[in-house]
Amino acid sequence: MSYVRALSCRKCGREYPPEPINLCDFCFSPLEVVYDYKSMAKAVSRENLSSGPASMWRYRDLLPVESEVVDIGTGFTPLVKADNLGRELGLEQLYIKNDCLNPTYSFKDRVVSVAITKAREFGFETVACASTGNLAASVAAHAAQANMKSYVFVASDVEQGKLVGIAIYDPVLIAVEGSYDDVNRLCTKVAESYNWGFININLRPYYAEGSKTLGYEVAEQLGWRAPECVVAPAASGLLFTRIWKGLDEFSMLGLIEPVNTHMYVTQAAGSSPIVNAFEAGSLHVHPVKPNTIAKSIAIGNPADGYYALRVARQSGGAACAVTDGELVAGMKLLAQTEGIFAETAGGVVVAGLKKLVASGAIKKGELTVAFITGAGLKTQEAVSDVVRPLVIKPTLESFKEVLGERVVV
Ligand SMILES: Cc1ncc(COP(=O)(O)O)c(C=O)c1O
Ligand SMILES: [Zn+2]
Repeated sequence: MSYVRALSCRKCGREYPPEPINLCDFCFSPLEVVYDYKSMAKAVSRENLSSGPASMWRYRDLLPVESEVVDIGTGFTPLVKADNLGRELGLEQLYIKNDCLNPTYSFKDRVVSVAITKAREFGFETVACASTGNLAASVAAHAAQANMKSYVFVASDVEQGKLVGIAIYDPVLIAVEGSYDDVNRLCTKVAESYNWGFININLRPYYAEGSKTLGYEVAEQLGWRAPECVVAPAASGLLFTRIWKGLDEFSMLGLIEPVNTHMYVTQAAGSSPIVNAFEAGSLHVHPVKPNTIAKSIAIGNPADGYYALRVARQSGGAACAVTDGELVAGMKLLAQTEGIFAETAGGVVVAGLKKLVASGAIKKGELTVAFITGAGLKTQEAVSDVVRPLVIKPTLESFKEVLGERVVV
C-alpha cells in the first residue's frame, strides 16, 4: 500500500485518479503525484528509514508504488566528501553525490525503477521511452529483469558507449535521424497509437518521483540535514525539481529542519534554454537547437523548464552555463582530484560549480553538494586526448631510457 492520494495538475490543481496519464485534460499542464502526508508522517521516522535496505527502496513509503518493485540494485550511492576538489575550487565543505555507481551507471535507474514497477502494476507488457541515452539503457535493463519487452528511441548521433550500453540488454533499439526533441515529438505520437507503458510519457508522473530519492539520500547521508547549496544538471529540468521536492518532503515530514537550500542548475552553453530564461529574468523558456557534446542533457525544449526555473528562483539559487571546453576541463578535474570519472553532464556540473564559486554566488564555507549523475566510460570520446601512454620495449633498459629524468626511485 502507498500513501498516494491522487494525481494533481501542477497548474490548475484538478485531480485525477492515479492512472497512466501525464497531462491535465483542461490546461495540458503536467500531472504530479500527491500524497496523504499526514498518514505518511505517522509511518516514517529516521529510525525506520535508516534500517531499510541500502538502496533507494529504503524510502518506499514515500514513493507511489503498490506492489513488489522491479529493482536491479539502485540507489544509496556514496556521498563523498570532496576535499581535494573543494580545495581546488575554494570550498571548505564540498560533497559529491556519486550516482555513476548505479546498475546502468546513471541516476536514471532511480526513475525507471519506479516507472517500470508502475507499468507492471497497470498491466502493461511492453515499456518504451524517448531517451538522450542513459534512460534507454536503464529501461532496457529493467525490462530484461522484469521479463518485459522494451522499445527504446534515441537520436541516431548518440555516443557509441551509450549505444552499446543500451543494446547489450537486447531491447528493440530505434535510432531516429533527428535531434532528441524530434525523438520526443515522435514518441508522443507513438504513445497515442500503441498501448505501451511509456516511461517518460504516460508514466511520467511516477517516473518523476524516483529522482526525489536523490534528495532523501543526501539529507540522510549528511546526518539528517539539507545542504546549503545544491548544484545539479538539467535536460528536461525534472531531476532538478525533484531533488528539491525530496528535501522539501523530508522537512514536511519532520525528518529534517526547514529547508533553506540554494538550488543551482547547470547546462551546457550549446543547449541552455533554462539558463537563458534565468538570465533574462523570465520563467518562460524559449526552445533552442542544441549543439554540445553534453548530449545526455541536450534538450532544446525542456518540458519542466518552467518548474526548474521556479525552484532556482524561489530557493535563492541561480543558473549557470558552461562551454564544451569548460565541461571537458570539469571532467578531467573531477577525475584527477577525486578519482571519479563522470560523463559530460558531470563535467557540466563541476565546471558550473567552479564558475559559481568564482563569481561569489556559492560561498567558501557553504555546505555544497554537486550531483554527478552519469559515468564517464559512456562518453569517452569527450576526453580521448588524455590517452598518451609512454610506449616502451619490454626491457628494463627501454623503460629507463624512456622515463629518463622522470624516474622517482
Ligand atoms: C546523466 C544525466 N544527467 C542529468 C540528466 C537530466 O535529467 P532531466 O531531464 O530530469 O533534467 C540526464 C537526462 O537524460 C542525464 O542523462
Ligand atoms: Zn490543469
